[in-house]
Amino acid sequence: MNNKRRIITFGTFDVFHVGHLRILERARVLGDQLVVGVSTDSLNESKKGRPPVYPQEERAAIVAALRCVDEVFFEESLELKAEYIRLFDVDVLVMGDDWQGRFDKFSSLCEVVYLPRTPAISTTEVIEKIRY
Ligand code: CTP
Repeated sequence: MNNKRRIITFGTFDVFHVGHLRILERARVLGDQLVVGVSTDSLNESKKGRPPVYPQEERAAIVAALRCVDEVFFEESLELKAEYIRLFDVDVLVMGDDWQGRFDKFSSLCEVVYLPRTPAISTTEVIEKIRY
């Protein structure tokens, strides 16, 4: 029987930056094991309207290499969150507070926690900074 407290979170994690690291570290300390859904290239394109800079295998490899991360899988669709929560048998869903309230519907399946974003950094801003 697995009585470890399992956490799940989701994201693109493209052009990996310290905001990504901080949310994963803060998610991990809420339990014993952290599972991360890395969005596929096609999901990212439909969600953000542009292809990611790094392909999904590379984004997943970077996330999987972190000390605070135990398991990584590809998030194929935004509509499958409930299935992923059940499949990975998690106790807590963690999201950045840019999603505040949007995932409360899953609170019958697991605890839902929103963590504040790290200020003043995002993949979009990093890309802009490099471009100009
Ligand atoms: N995140 C965070 N602090 C930041 C940026 C992101 O805590 N400064 C969190 C998000 O809330 C999310 C996770 O990191 O839970 C993955 O976010 P992602 O969308 O991949 O990164 P962004 O930098 O927000 O990407 P973009 O600019 O493309 O929207």
